[in-house]
Amino acid sequence: MSNKMVHKLVLLVTVLAIASSAPVRMQLMHTDAGRGLTPRELLHRMAQRSRARAERLLSDGASVPVTPGKLDDSGVPDTEYLAHFAIGTPAQPVQLTLDSGSDLIWTQCQRCISCFNQSLPVFNASLSSTVAELPCGSAACQDLPATACNAGNSSSTNNQLCVYSYSYGDGSVTIGGLVADTFVFGDGSAVPDMAFGCGLNNTGIFKSNETGIAGFGRGPLSLPSQLKVDNFSYCFTNITGSAPSSVLLGLPANLHSSSAGGVVQTTRLIQNPSIPTLYYLSLKGITVGSTMLPIPESAFALTNNGTGGTIIDSGTGMTTFPPDVYSLVHDAFIAQMSLPVLNATATPLCFKLPAGTKPDVPKLILHFDGPTLDLPRDNYMFELEDEGVPIPCLAILPGDAMTTIGNYQQQNMHIIYDLANNMLSFVPAQCDEV
Ligand SMILES: *[C@@H]1O[C@H](CO)[C@@H](O)[C@H](O)[C@H]1NC(C)=O
Ligand SMILES: *[C@@H]1O[C@H](CO)[C@@H](O)[C@H](O)[C@H]1NC(C)=O
Ligand SMILES: *[C@@H]1O[C@H](CO)[C@@H](O)[C@H](O)[C@H]1NC(C)=O
Ligand SMILES: *[C@@H]1O[C@H](CO)[C@@H](O)[C@H](O)[C@H]1NC(C)=O
Ligand SMILES: *[C@@H]1O[C@H](CO)[C@@H](O)[C@H](O)[C@H]1NC(C)=O
Ligand SMILES: *[C@@H]1O[C@H](CO)[C@@H](O)[C@H](O)[C@H]1NC(C)=O
Ligand SMILES: *[C@@H]1O[C@H](CO)[C@@H](O)[C@H](O)[C@H]1NC(C)=O
Ligand SMILES: *[C@@H]1O[C@H](CO)[C@@H](O)[C@H](O)[C@H]1NC(C)=O
Ligand SMILES: *[C@@H]1O[C@H](CO)[C@@H](O)[C@H](O)[C@H]1NC(C)=O
Repeated sequence: MSNKMVHKLVLLVTVLAIASSAPVRMQLMHTDAGRGLTPRELLHRMAQRSRARAERLLSDGASVPVTPGKLDDSGVPDTEYLAHFAIGTPAQPVQLTLDSGSDLIWTQCQRCISCFNQSLPVFNASLSSTVAELPCGSAACQDLPATACNAGNSSSTNNQLCVYSYSYGDGSVTIGGLVADTFVFGDGSAVPDMAFGCGLNNTGIFKSNETGIAGFGRGPLSLPSQLKVDNFSYCFTNITGSAPSSVLLGLPANLHSSSAGGVVQTTRLIQNPSIPTLYYLSLKGITVGSTMLPIPESAFALTNNGTGGTIIDSGTGMTTFPPDVYSLVHDAFIAQMSLPVLNATATPLCFKLPAGTKPDVPKLILHFDGPTLDLPRDNYMFELEDEGVPIPCLAILPGDAMTTIGNYQQQNMHIIYDLANNMLSFVPAQCDEV
């Protein structure tokens, strides 16, 4: 690559490695926190982002299976919650969208060829004494799906800088150089040699306050994988609020006993060899109100060819169901809401509300293999406002064959990914206190 992206060479200072007894704690904030947007604006933005993803997946047809070397990656972020930490020596702050649907960690870098606006100074690798360029021959480079090294004569490019291209299901793409540097977390712990993308040409849906994306997927380049932790957790505060919370990597063993009051439920995490990045769950059924919907379990199941299935994704806003399932949920809400529908063919589904009334909303329960997730009303209904009149809407969208449990449905819950045992636990929580 002709761009002189990184000037400094390796000078790795011995820094504190992460101790398994001392978990890494990062501050997490909703991306729109502090922007002074009304809840209505926030939710509009979120709906747009979720829909952008769903449409992209629909237009992709059989979009899900991914093969190495192609630009299509199923990791599909919508910008919602940002993880805050710092990179380099001295440390430069970054704020990255927490995305359990992708693997690469990247931030925009000087000198950008095409970057989106960010409020933090753009990472300048020349200012760091600990940064190192990663060559094509490095393990990290070979873990990437698409690099300049893949093309042409690889034996002759082993020592050249690894130039990557990483794309997301919503159409966003980052192109840049792969480097390694020290990550410094809010609790003061510093971890050397973390591989990340120095993004020089970043295009797509980046309208929020992020500087890049932190992949939390199962692949070797993700933050949990590089930190070699056995588990991580996040706890999303009210999406219309601005309270920060923490993402924990390497949890204290006594975590469960310290979660105040609520019942901890646990279900299996499933792996899909066709899309190894993603965290699949076993969803069995849906209850709306008192009705268990007549949905065959196969509607949520992973097929032998790796399509379909149900994932939990921190980078998607609203949950999406396959069109047939969505249609049953949609009809059940219409039947049980006893309110006129605003527009039965529009998404999301919204209702007309007589002024001054608060509607009864049917329950929404997701039945997993083991636990049942009885969602609080605020985790699936939101209110738009039209000239002072509130309009209740369902925070669920039709998607493709894969069901995606989005972060709207994950609010106010502590969600623990136990990677060592392939289990996911969740418990209702006051997230700003976790
Ligand atoms: C964006 O991030 C910067 C740096 O962290 C922060 O000062 C600012 O308040 C954020 N802006 C919004 C609108 O969230
Ligand atoms: C980025 O910020 C500059 C300066 O504040 C502004 O002129 C430009 O319109 C912004 N670009 C986008 C895409 O928001
Ligand atoms: C990055 O830092 C170097 C070293 O201080 C400086 O010379 C350069 O101008 C900086 N780059 C940008 C784009 O600010
Ligand atoms: C690859 O590069 C090596 C070393 O430069 C050279 O010997 C070899 O002929 C090249 N192979 C091809 C297929 O170009
Ligand atoms: C940036 O990447 C996009 C594709 O993501 C490409 O179309 C565009 O030409 C690139 N821009 C530059 C300046 O390389
Ligand atoms: C979240 O915030 C909205 C608007 O401020 C509020 O109506 C709602 O009750 C809050 N939900 C929770 C669970 O705190
Ligand atoms: C999380 O993993 C760490 C090691 O990374 C282990 O010591 C701890 O017991 C685990 N905690 C839970 C809650 O599984
Ligand atoms: C994968 O399997 C499903 C169900 O078995 C089938 O509907 C779909 O067409 C298959 N897709 C591909 C790409 O083979
Ligand atoms: C209802 O929504 C559909 C799909 O968004 C739209 O095409 C149609 O114009 C809407 N109808 C009314 C009456 O607004």
